Amino acid sequence: MTQDTTSPLSINELQAMKHRGEKISCLTAYDASFSALINKVGIDVILVGDSLGMVIQGHSTTLPVSISDMIYHARCVSQPNQRAFVIADLPFMSYCTPIIAAENAAKLIQQGGAQMIKLEGARVETVRFLVEQGIPVCGHLGLLPQLINQLGCYHVQGKTPEDADRILSEAQQLQDAGATLLVLECVPAPLAKAISSQLNIPVIGIGAGVHCDGQVLVLYDMLNISITKRPRFSKNFMQDATSIEAAISAYHQAVKQALFPSIKHSF
Ligand code: KIV
Repeated sequence: MTQDTTSPLSINELQAMKHRGEKISCLTAYDASFSALINKVGIDVILVGDSLGMVIQGHSTTLPVSISDMIYHARCVSQPNQRAFVIADLPFMSYCTPIIAAENAAKLIQQGGAQMIKLEGARVETVRFLVEQGIPVCGHLGLLPQLINQLGCYHVQGKTPEDADRILSEAQQLQDAGATLLVLECVPAPLAKAISSQLNIPVIGIGAGVHCDGQVLVLYDMLNISITKRPRFSKNFMQDATSIEAAISAYHQAVKQALFPSIKHSF
């Protein structure tokens, strides 16, 4: 279905979608052509993720991605008159103090055209500082890919009661610090459900079950063109599609109708 691409979504509209129970669709993108296609289909949010380090640059982790890389790709994605809300990631070590975070977030917004920045972990004081400077923030909890060298592997988080309680409490702290969106990656579906119902802000899941307020996938995974193995929580939407546009549209519809993720794509 082709949507009106001329009225940009705001964070208020994403918030309203949560409150009326409308699922939020989100995909990553890194360039202008995919951004245009995603907008044409009517996806609500584009995430310029640091996953570009893996799917665009060919690295085995997101760690080599620089702030200049992120600005470049955010600028490619952010176009005039588009409908989708654009979030850009602060990459590894670009938010190690609140001041450094603010300087880099400002670049993503002023030079990259992003409407919001995302950072990983319970960086509560950094989030509070960014919000005080007028920078909209999306938190990211659960599996934190920028911690891969501490974690050892990409595995599901929040499986023990202690870990689940910690993630729930961190989510609340991020909201209290002023974050207005939260990405939850690779956590058990019941935990994601509890967090989504406890928080007032929209919670976007990836590998976090169907009860989140919205879903995000890495574009290249759902198109089955990633050079790495597709994660279990993702789905090949190209399998039954006749075109890339049709695959993105099938994903959008599946998210809106809460048909994706199914049990087999959840933990
Ligand atoms: O970098 C990214 O694409 C992300 C998603 C996996 C949520 O952070």
